[in-house]
Amino acid sequence: MSSNISSEKASEIAKDLFGIAAKVIRLPGDVDENFRLEASNGTCYILKISQPEQELTFLDFQNEILKHFEEKEIDLQLPQVVPGKNGLLKSELEIQGALRWVRVLTWVDGRLWARVNPKTSELRCSLGSQSGKLTNALLDFSHPTAERNFDWNLANSAWTFNYLERFEGEEKKIVQHFHELFKEIQEDYVLLPKSTVHNDVNDYNILVSQNLKSPEVSGIIDFGDAVFTQTINDLAIVIAYAIMDVPNPLQAATDVIKGYNNHYVFSEQELSCLYSLVSMRLVTTVTKSSMRKAEDPTNEYHVISEKPAWELLKKWFAIHPNFALYSFRNACGFPAHPKSKVFEIWAGNNKTKLNTVFPTLAIKNVTTLDMTVGSTLLGNIAEYNDIDITAFRLEQIQKEHPDTILANGYLETRPFYTTNAFKGEGNNGPEFRTVHLGTDFWVPAQTPVHAPFDGKVVIVHHNDYLKDYGPTIVLEHAFDGAVFYTLYGHLTLSSLSINKIGATVKQGDLIAYIGEAHENGQWVPHLHLQIVLDLLSNTENFHGVAYPSEKQLWQSLCPSPDLIFSEALDRSVEDISEENMISFRKEHLGKGLSLSYSQPLHIVRGEGSFLIDTEGKKYLDTANNVNHVGHQHPKVVRAGQEQMSVLNTNTRYLHKNIVEYAEKLLKKLPEELSVLHFVNSGSEANELAIRMARTISGQEDMLAIEVGYHGNTSAAMKVSSYKFDGKGGAGKPETTHILPLPDPFRGKHRGADCGQAYAEYAKKIIQHQEVIDEGIAGFIGESMVSCGGQIVPPANYFKQVYKYVREAGGICIADEVQTGFGRMGKTFWAFELYDVVPDIVTMGKPAGNGHPLAVVACTRKVADAFSTGMEFFNTFGGNPVSCAIGKAVLDVIEEEKLQENALKVGGFLKNELQKLQLEFPIIGDVRGEGLFLGFELNDSEKIPLADHASYLADRMKDLGVLMSTDGPDYNVLKIKPPMVFSVENAKELIFRLKTVFAEDFMVNF
Ligand SMILES: Cc1ncc(COP(=O)(O)O)c(C=O)c1O
Repeated sequence: MSSNISSEKASEIAKDLFGIAAKVIRLPGDVDENFRLEASNGTCYILKISQPEQELTFLDFQNEILKHFEEKEIDLQLPQVVPGKNGLLKSELEIQGALRWVRVLTWVDGRLWARVNPKTSELRCSLGSQSGKLTNALLDFSHPTAERNFDWNLANSAWTFNYLERFEGEEKKIVQHFHELFKEIQEDYVLLPKSTVHNDVNDYNILVSQNLKSPEVSGIIDFGDAVFTQTINDLAIVIAYAIMDVPNPLQAATDVIKGYNNHYVFSEQELSCLYSLVSMRLVTTVTKSSMRKAEDPTNEYHVISEKPAWELLKKWFAIHPNFALYSFRNACGFPAHPKSKVFEIWAGNNKTKLNTVFPTLAIKNVTTLDMTVGSTLLGNIAEYNDIDITAFRLEQIQKEHPDTILANGYLETRPFYTTNAFKGEGNNGPEFRTVHLGTDFWVPAQTPVHAPFDGKVVIVHHNDYLKDYGPTIVLEHAFDGAVFYTLYGHLTLSSLSINKIGATVKQGDLIAYIGEAHENGQWVPHLHLQIVLDLLSNTENFHGVAYPSEKQLWQSLCPSPDLIFSEALDRSVEDISEENMISFRKEHLGKGLSLSYSQPLHIVRGEGSFLIDTEGKKYLDTANNVNHVGHQHPKVVRAGQEQMSVLNTNTRYLHKNIVEYAEKLLKKLPEELSVLHFVNSGSEANELAIRMARTISGQEDMLAIEVGYHGNTSAAMKVSSYKFDGKGGAGKPETTHILPLPDPFRGKHRGADCGQAYAEYAKKIIQHQEVIDEGIAGFIGESMVSCGGQIVPPANYFKQVYKYVREAGGICIADEVQTGFGRMGKTFWAFELYDVVPDIVTMGKPAGNGHPLAVVACTRKVADAFSTGMEFFNTFGGNPVSCAIGKAVLDVIEEEKLQENALKVGGFLKNELQKLQLEFPIIGDVRGEGLFLGFELNDSEKIPLADHASYLADRMKDLGVLMSTDGPDYNVLKIKPPMVFSVENAKELIFRLKTVFAEDFMVNF
């Protein structure tokens, strides 16, 4: 292509022919020479100058299409043709003796799809929807030029067959495979409906709105490739570009299809060609690239531009065409498998009895079990992984229900499958195949299994029993002119020799025995029975579990075994829906309760550093410091369960647990803090501590830190500036005196040496109290201010504040509810980092790992002074169950060296966050100690960016990481995970943070 028109010349042309005086910028163009015109009134246009000798009819064709859209008034920005001064849609111009055509189109505003990050499912759906509108609007358009013949018309793509020899090895195999497939679809394909289509909705022709938080496709440009062809080709092309560079292209394709289908409804015949058509667009791309490479071997651009197409072709090749088709059908509202409805009817008319399969068992009934993610039958991970415990529990149920068979599992979302063996990277972070596709029958090992119907043996194989069903048999059965399969997993190894591939079996024939635990990955003996309508060319194994996002599709492909038995197998217990839970909460629970995230999470299980929702989505938890030694730590759980089953009463009786726990806890405290009081919450602990300070000092007034939070009881609220200065708060009570937040990064005084400056405020308040003849009861403060935004007060601050308070006769209270129990890494308590010993220390959250247990520790002097003769009684405080749990928490911290872990992992994480800070300047400060870290988001003037913090937390949730935001300006991300947080967890956190920090909203601040 020759490009010989300067910007100056273009500017002249725009003025002379169109009367547009504008600033001109040259743009890239494949055929036309293109210039962006920015008129002085802000309106923008595109000036297009054709190549010499350009056929006029082709330009007319494009203009006609654009005019056609103007009449349709579709809700999508498209270029409009701007008439020249002569009133015509195109003008003739002679440049250097050659005739050129000049057109001006309106500028379509937006961001190029290619540059948008992230491309979410919603955005792909919006792309589908807008493309569907375009397809629909062109259905009644016709123009003779549309029927032209050219290489990018997918219907003509057989031309690529002649270039197969350009490829080698795996690439050649893939291209050849897709050529063959394209030949196979021809018979149906040539009959599909045709219309004029855009034919090139690629990532440089799609425009996305400027809304960086929830973008939508706002415009489509460049009708230069429009052609009259099979309508479905247009969708295939949109898909081919929209699903590049994603981990799961098929899922991404279904996003596009769902949107498209809202405006153009595809037939089953059209969908059956789609997989091949997507591949042929990619084959055309790589074939064209190889041709360009041959013409110009030194130009690396050809290699770079074809790379994503090759990557996608390889991934597309790995997808079974039928599976792709079922996904497309499902996205368009058809039953995923075309025969699933027919099978249901056949099965309804041909039901068999469970005794056909298990003739040796006395089965009068079915007892269904709950093994969903939140199942209490399974218990925690240590319990369900212990075959003896699970087997015992099932035996107990069997004893309670004699003559019944224990069964469950069809479409059940289960916790066992949240391990790495079932993990995949989805387009929205990690996903787990948690949905079980068969029914499990919990029957004794060696139980004989018989065929439910006549059939033929098609698979006999010993699979990996750690992630599959060990010894497995599959039978094929005929129904209504088609076939279905029954799969039997977890058999004895000997069962494999009973069956020969190809052998026929009759209904009721013996086919297998239930495997022993050692043949089943040490799991409780059971039969996995699954119905499959299409084995997808598998000859050894078949998926027994699926991703929750694909549940509907698999439900059609693997119908319920319930359909073939006369006894009902499916679990009928209906859980309360999430909508109902939300409306109940609104109606009947306190109005002030809040739910995190706009789509609240429904968490039903905790395991170590993870929380798991009902779908088995596993969230890495960086926010819950309450579950200190890990969610549902087996040792802590057991300690509570065991003591609860024997006794729970109060401290008015002797019990060793309170003494043993107190002894252990005291060892963790400085010698001076030698007396403990047990309560049930951090609030109660602070309430008691404040009461002690007031009783001892005879004063009311307390000093507290700005944005501090100390609990929800009356006295605790009165020292919580976070609450009374926050939303709905009534301001500071008279008896509370607030010290400014000692924030060395963005506070009143900055830098490492500002401790004294901040402590001076305490001194001034105390002096003022003296002037008005008042005193102070004490000071309460966290040694690292959590709600204040993980603030690390400067050195010397507490030393000085404590000094002034004590000189005035006040009591110093350290609130360690968030920070205690080894979290700091270097020290067990945060106050120790400042080399002070408080008079009172309050503890809560982590003490009971989620069980309500809190403690007030104080000096002997304080305890004695507080003892006025009045009994201190707390109904639940110090009960044997709480103390058993508290002791187990301390044991685990020691046994698993969790303080050392906080030091090691916290140090690693802080360092990685500091590296991120260099890469992403939006991170203003990284701070904290051990596993109590935080970073804040600011612009270059240190202005806090709360919106960005909340976007980050939301996106991280989408990607499977829970983070919390806080601080007076809500721009701080707090990191205070369970102390079992590992280096691997830290790496995952950093990896996901990097992803989100690179997104458009985060880089625009
Ligand atoms: C520092 C601090 N103190 C006290 C409390 C109150 O504890 P609880 O909610 O157990 O009453 C909290 C709770 O968030 C806290 O963060």
